[in-house]
Amino acid sequence: MKCFNLILLVSLSFIKNSAAAGNWCYEIQGCAGTGPRLWSKHFPFCGGQQQSPINIHTKGAVFKESLKLVQFNLTGYGDIVRKLSITNNGHSAQVNLPSGIEISGGGLSGTYVATQFHFHWGSEEFHGSEHTIDGEKFPMELHIVHARKNATGGSGDLAVLGFFYEETSKNNTEYDSLIKSIEAITAVDGIKNFSANLAKLIPQNEALKLYYRYNGSLTTPPCTETVTWTLFNTTIKLSKQQLQAFHHNLNFTAIERMVENFRPVQKRGNRIVYTSSSQVIVSSFQSLFICFIVSFLTIMS
Ligand SMILES: *[C@@H]1O[C@H](CO)[C@@H](O)[C@H](O)[C@H]1NC(C)=O
Ligand SMILES: *[C@@H]1O[C@H](CO)[C@@H](O)[C@H](O)[C@H]1NC(C)=O
Ligand SMILES: *[C@@H]1O[C@H](CO)[C@@H](O)[C@H](O)[C@H]1NC(C)=O
Ligand SMILES: *[C@@H]1O[C@H](CO)[C@@H](O)[C@H](O)[C@H]1NC(C)=O
Ligand SMILES: *[C@@H]1O[C@H](CO)[C@@H](O)[C@H](O)[C@H]1NC(C)=O
Ligand SMILES: *[C@@H]1O[C@H](CO)[C@@H](O)[C@H](O)[C@H]1NC(C)=O
Ligand SMILES: *[C@@H]1O[C@H](CO)[C@@H](O)[C@H](O)[C@H]1NC(C)=O
Repeated sequence: MKCFNLILLVSLSFIKNSAAAGNWCYEIQGCAGTGPRLWSKHFPFCGGQQQSPINIHTKGAVFKESLKLVQFNLTGYGDIVRKLSITNNGHSAQVNLPSGIEISGGGLSGTYVATQFHFHWGSEEFHGSEHTIDGEKFPMELHIVHARKNATGGSGDLAVLGFFYEETSKNNTEYDSLIKSIEAITAVDGIKNFSANLAKLIPQNEALKLYYRYNGSLTTPPCTETVTWTLFNTTIKLSKQQLQAFHHNLNFTAIERMVENFRPVQKRGNRIVYTSSSQVIVSSFQSLFICFIVSFLTIMS
């Protein structure tokens, strides 16, 4: 016990001295000793068994009755244009959210308050989502972080809604203001005001019904294992130019472009990934029909 305490004390002071100032980096930054494979040296949680991101093997996801057709109650995500500000925090572009934006339902235990959202992206060469679906990476991933109103100091204290981006031919005009603003935050600590309709940055209503759910961690140090993850099947569409705006405009440092700011996938271990998808009960004929309708609507829009 004494020995354990000593180890704890030593490792805690080590954290304080070597890494308290956010001294960690992504693989592409080539910073010896502080890249993702070594995060656990300075941040012990990063070496845990319930880490994120992971690969979602869709065929292995377990259908959960309680997630079926349960809709998210997105309070305050409402159809209003908000004045927000975006910051380059040296690892991503982050938007801190005002109070009053909440989620509940969707199989979550309790009400969660949105605190911030940020992005993980790639480069001209590589896609940059953190989670992968059946081994596939998407160009970019959005994380909307929420904190449980009644935090218990453990599992489920945070709920992160994750969305994948897909490239389309047209600009997504809902993102115009946000994307314009990132041109002004090249340097670390850069900050810029912009306005956006939060509800319209993400898919809406029915498109939120299909998702994957698992227990994991923050994908950046300290990698705390308190996150209830929700990854939506419906992607957000951005044009190539809009995606490139992330590659070309932000910097990690005065000499490094901020690209490929993702953590590699971690071992799922014996964790179960649940799905709200009723695909098991939707016959292949029905899916073909839905596919036909969706294609038709896409063509028409
Ligand atoms: C949505 O959440 C808000 C705030 O927690 C609550 O007042 C409202 O009743 C909820 N609406 C539904 C439809 O559950
Ligand atoms: C949060 O905790 C307080 C006090 O323990 C309780 O009165 C309240 O109902 C809880 N709220 C929710 C949403 O669980
Ligand atoms: C951003 O908005 C805040 C208040 O919403 C304001 O105080 C600040 O001056 C604005 N910053 C810039 C650079 O316009
Ligand atoms: C997450 O962990 C909690 C506590 O161990 C458990 O009750 C819950 O079912 C888990 N959720 C998932 C999606 O595995
Ligand atoms: C959505 O679900 C389909 C069917 O399981 C799967 O092929 C596709 O990869 C999923 N996409 C995402 C982004 O989850
Ligand atoms: C599309 O978005 C990009 C990036 O913001 C911008 O440079 C370009 O002018 C836009 N194109 C059109 C046709 O609006
Ligand atoms: C951003 O990084 C690029 C590439 O290293 C460099 O040329 C540029 O001066 C940097 N800009 C700022 C504001 O740090």
